[in-house]
Amino acid sequence: MPKKVVALLGSPVLDGNTARLLDEAIRGAEEAGCEVEKVEVAHMDVLPCMELFQCMGSETCLIQDGMEEYYRKFREMDGLIIATPVMTMGIPGRLKSFIDRFQVFYMAKYHRGQSFISPERRKTRKMLFISIAGMNIPNVFLGVKMTARAFGEIIDCPYWDEVLRNDMDTIRDIRTRPEVMEAAYKKGYDLGRLLG
Ligand SMILES: Cc1cc2nc3c(=O)[nH]c(=O)nc-3n(C[C@H](O)[C@H](O)[C@H](O)COP(=O)(O)O)c2cc1C
Repeated sequence: MPKKVVALLGSPVLDGNTARLLDEAIRGAEEAGCEVEKVEVAHMDVLPCMELFQCMGSETCLIQDGMEEYYRKFREMDGLIIATPVMTMGIPGRLKSFIDRFQVFYMAKYHRGQSFISPERRKTRKMLFISIAGMNIPNVFLGVKMTARAFGEIIDCPYWDEVLRNDMDTIRDIRTRPEVMEAAYKKGYDLGRLLG
């Protein structure tokens, strides 16, 4: 059975720089033998968490907007790739809403003390984080990395490695930086090998 990887695209631009890096990472993971499902989160109709707290005592969310399918996929997957631009020093809103809806996992793990993911599977699950930013300032990735790390803990798929590139307002086209494209491919490949 090939290892399953979910690849989240946070950018709304489906052929932009973030998407290009994600596609390289996916290519690497696939060449390492993984089955990868790409999810274009910015184009999903995902609602934000409304703090209804049904998930305090149950394994589901009260909001019926298709997230159930992703709860199942995130329980089954072996690895996760998140690729996102920095927007207003954080991750884009739709991706944040998607991540916040994993309060269902948070409640299972921290409120009821029984994560959906066994301690054995937590040891092998891994997240690769890819992010780009327009600006060339210190700490531009601080916010997005904190969110990604917190998410990794909540879903028991810990932050493993990263590909980051700032100064995109100057660079403009990531294809002019083949070393970044190669890093995305290689980290995707390494992720796939480690999972396999
Ligand atoms: C709404 C919005 C907010 C942004 N906020 C930031 C920011 O706070 N810091 C930064 O460095 N870049 C910011 N950017 C720039 C993006 O990170 C940059 O343009 C990135 O390359 C976009 O990648 P994409 O075309 O793959 O989506 C912002 C872009 C948009 C559209």
